[in-house]
Amino acid sequence: MDLQIVDWLSLSLRWAHIVAGIGWIGASFYFMALDFSLRHRSGLPSGVKGESWLVHGGGFYHVQKYMVAPEGMPKDLKWFQWESYATWLTGFALMSVIYYWQADIYLIDRSVLALSKLQAVGISIAALAASWLGYDAMCKSPLKNNQAAMFAVLFVLIVTAAFGLGEVFSARAVFLHIGAMIGTIMTGNVFFVIIPNQKIVVAELKAGKIPDPEFGKIAKLRSTHNNYLTLPVLFMMISNHYPMTFGHPMNWVVVALILPIGAIVRHYFNAHDSGKHGRALSWQWPVASALLLILMVFIAWRPTPATKGANEAAEAANIEASALTQQAFAIVKARCAVCHSANPTDFVTAAPGGVEYDTLDLVRQYAPQIRAQTILSHAMPPGNLTEMTDDERTLLDAWIANEAQ
Ligand code: HEC
Repeated sequence: MDLQIVDWLSLSLRWAHIVAGIGWIGASFYFMALDFSLRHRSGLPSGVKGESWLVHGGGFYHVQKYMVAPEGMPKDLKWFQWESYATWLTGFALMSVIYYWQADIYLIDRSVLALSKLQAVGISIAALAASWLGYDAMCKSPLKNNQAAMFAVLFVLIVTAAFGLGEVFSARAVFLHIGAMIGTIMTGNVFFVIIPNQKIVVAELKAGKIPDPEFGKIAKLRSTHNNYLTLPVLFMMISNHYPMTFGHPMNWVVVALILPIGAIVRHYFNAHDSGKHGRALSWQWPVASALLLILMVFIAWRPTPATKGANEAAEAANIEASALTQQAFAIVKARCAVCHSANPTDFVTAAPGGVEYDTLDLVRQYAPQIRAQTILSHAMPPGNLTEMTDDERTLLDAWIANEAQ
């Protein structure tokens, strides 16, 4: 009997992580939309900034927002914090199962840096902590009075982190870390700033004092950062299934483009929810689409040394097609089929993703994926565990090109 504990753990945690994340981001989108939909009307109770009428699920909702606080404490108060904490906790647990427990496969790439497991995990945790400490320091610095400058600095910090981690971790771990670092900043905002400030306000209310509006303002600033970071963080998390993104030799450029694309799309919805129309809503989708197009071209355009060399190699060597096929199959057998086989020998208990390379027909069938994972990116073999050489990649590419003719 083979219980496949790691897979079950990873599957359950991923399930929980996605559910918690939907809860958190759903609530966050809802409150942003609510905030933007508030309208000031005459005759509102004192302290109310605006109200909003909503319709959902067979009924009408009438919501009023008290800018600092109502005069007295309401009897029941529903807090929104566990969605965020649960997302971070399940995310960190999932990261531990995949990237720490199986650091050899996913976190470490010995062709980038030969780290020990302990070193790699240490750097990963330090990166998460540093992201929060650096961001928090920025928000408390004089920059806090300049929104635009703060976003610019945040952008530079994130792109620099992507570049720096690229010198340390496997390519897919870099993107996962960028996502996890942004996610840590977002949950840190909830845990260290937004909720504590809210608690102070509640305590002051209970004590019959008038709360300082500054607490609410700081919370709102952090919450706005979270709002604009939501879409980029989601991209980083799902990009792990697309080696063309994280596997690009300059993957920090991909990060540098995804950040504005995500923020601009989010901005469209914010503007839309606040009742803007016409020109105010006209530029976001075209600009975001243009940036996405630039990203697609950037990824497609890069010179792949393997492909260039491959054509020459194929011609120069003029190897007989069948000999080339035999060599290519032998390479895949040696470098891939230790994991990707009906009976894997090392590292894994079952063929990852159901991808098996036991016969030449199977290798032919999966040729485009082999090219994506091994030539266009170096995602496979993970961490180059089976020590595939550049020459082998070149030869494999030549064979795939040959087959496609
Ligand atoms: C050390 C074990 C190991 C080796 C060696 C290995 N792989 Fe993988 N491969 C994996 C794992 C683990 C995954 C799943 C990654 C994930 O979760 O996204 C995977 C995923 C894949 C996928 C994507 C499957 C899907 O779900 O779509 C392809 C394609 C692939 N590998 C090709 C290769 C090729 C080609 C080689 C040889 C050059 C190779 N692999 C070598 C472990 C390995």
